[in-house]
Amino acid sequence: MKAWVLEGSRPLCGAIRAAGAKNAVLPMMAAAILSDRPVVLRRAPRLRDVRTMTGLLRRLGACVEHSGDELIVDAGRINGWSAPWAAVRRMRAGFCVLGPLLARFGRAVVPLPGGCRLGDRPIDLHLAGLRALGAQIEIQSGCVIAAARRLRGAGVMMSGRFGPSVTGTAQLLCAAVAAEGETTIRGAAREPEIVDLARLLSAMGAKIEGAGEATIRIEGVAGLGGAEHRVIADRIEAATFLFAAAVTGGDVLVEDADPAHLEAPLAALTAAGCRVEVRRSGIRLVGPSGAAAGFSHIPEPSCGTIRVEPVGAPTGLPGSAGHGNRMGAPARFPGSVGDVPRMGATAGLPGSAESDFERAGGVVRNWAGGRLAPVSIGTRPYPGFPTDLQAPWTALMAVAAGRSRIVDEVFPQRFAHAAELRRLGAMIRVEGNAAEVVGPARLEGAPVRATDLRAGAALVLAALAARGRTTIFGVAHIERGYERLAEKLRSLGAQLAVESALPRNSVQIGLP
Ligand code: UD1
Repeated sequence: MKAWVLEGSRPLCGAIRAAGAKNAVLPMMAAAILSDRPVVLRRAPRLRDVRTMTGLLRRLGACVEHSGDELIVDAGRINGWSAPWAAVRRMRAGFCVLGPLLARFGRAVVPLPGGCRLGDRPIDLHLAGLRALGAQIEIQSGCVIAAARRLRGAGVMMSGRFGPSVTGTAQLLCAAVAAEGETTIRGAAREPEIVDLARLLSAMGAKIEGAGEATIRIEGVAGLGGAEHRVIADRIEAATFLFAAAVTGGDVLVEDADPAHLEAPLAALTAAGCRVEVRRSGIRLVGPSGAAAGFSHIPEPSCGTIRVEPVGAPTGLPGSAGHGNRMGAPARFPGSVGDVPRMGATAGLPGSAESDFERAGGVVRNWAGGRLAPVSIGTRPYPGFPTDLQAPWTALMAVAAGRSRIVDEVFPQRFAHAAELRRLGAMIRVEGNAAEVVGPARLEGAPVRATDLRAGAALVLAALAARGRTTIFGVAHIERGYERLAEKLRSLGAQLAVESALPRNSVQIGLP
């Protein structure tokens, strides 16, 4: 039974380099199906999900090579349009081959997708969009069966009850670039991964306008060629390392992290009392010393402290309502509705933190006596606080000095991590789409299980802050989306052992 064994309560210090973005590279690999020429992706992360997508494409007849951080997909000899169940079942992004297969072969058979269990994950927006482009679609025996002699441009709506669909937008982009005529995607996802995908498609010869905005216009082209492209850095991975510095009272520089992709999380970290420094090389974060487990015995990080430079600091930072916050009172963000903070709606908020940030010489501190201060957040589609960082943020708030409220408006049922964090001593109550967290909890190591990728990241953060030993099972979930996480954490000073065959009877205490 594979597990990670962490000895916590140590500040993480040092520098690591961000990997390429998982959520960018996977739809790009699917997009390579559109061309019979090679697509070269640089900074391609070495992840379990990338290997799963590699297996899927090879089963279709594509040639895929991953050497170093260069990934080459050559779909020239692709000879199938039926995606294997085993791959799509394991990973939601596998469903992204539907649009490209349909565009290239006029038909596709793709199993209904799996992936992390975050509650209900429908695909109605994907199917409605492809139908609008003229595809005939049926669902039989757990598979989507799609056919279209030639896709035709049309108006498509990509936003549902919980906002725009990210993989839905990627799916439609890949179908529309090869359709006849013009397609307009309204309510499109604005995530950086969508912008990056559009860049790759444009390099392949597609005509796309407005990627990164809510309306994207695509002029279909007759054929797409090969391309070379450098994938953006993974903003979720980068933020996870910044959170690790915050929760341990450490000092970490994440090289290549792009602050423009992390405005809401950086604002939240700043409001929680962390020092955030935006550098040319990346983002550096110094956590309040003594943040870990609320203990005061943690020494000042040996790598020293830093001053925050206003120059080059992220713009449009929301949420300084916590400035000067007393211990125990959660930071509130301007634009909040009732108890639900509107951190997500960053740009243009009246009284947004931007001015406070400037007034404070680039620092918006929320002093909580050397500990993390409580900061309530609400997840939103980009540029809001990402749902993928909701579980990790909950882990941080468990050791913050006071009460905070965490609302997930993108995946309202995404709270499986709460029960596991409680095993470590976190005080969390979940009601509907919100968690109420009371800190600072004295986290103590215990055996826990990762139930999904980001829940796993949350457990790692809590384990880093906890006193004593934490054994994390279900690490395969974590390996799906974090490249060499154990190794990178160790290089920052974490005490982490990877146990490949832990005897079951020695670690079953407290496990379901
Ligand atoms: C992608 C990301 C995932 C992230 C999520 C939200 C990838 C591979 N995964 O997942 O890491 O957590 O965006 O940022 O990029 N919805 C519908 N109908 C649909 C599709 C989605 O109602 O047809 C709903 C979902 O249930 C959810 C919301 O829309 O409530 C957003 O989901 P979506 O953006 O589609 O998530 P994914 O693309 O699956």
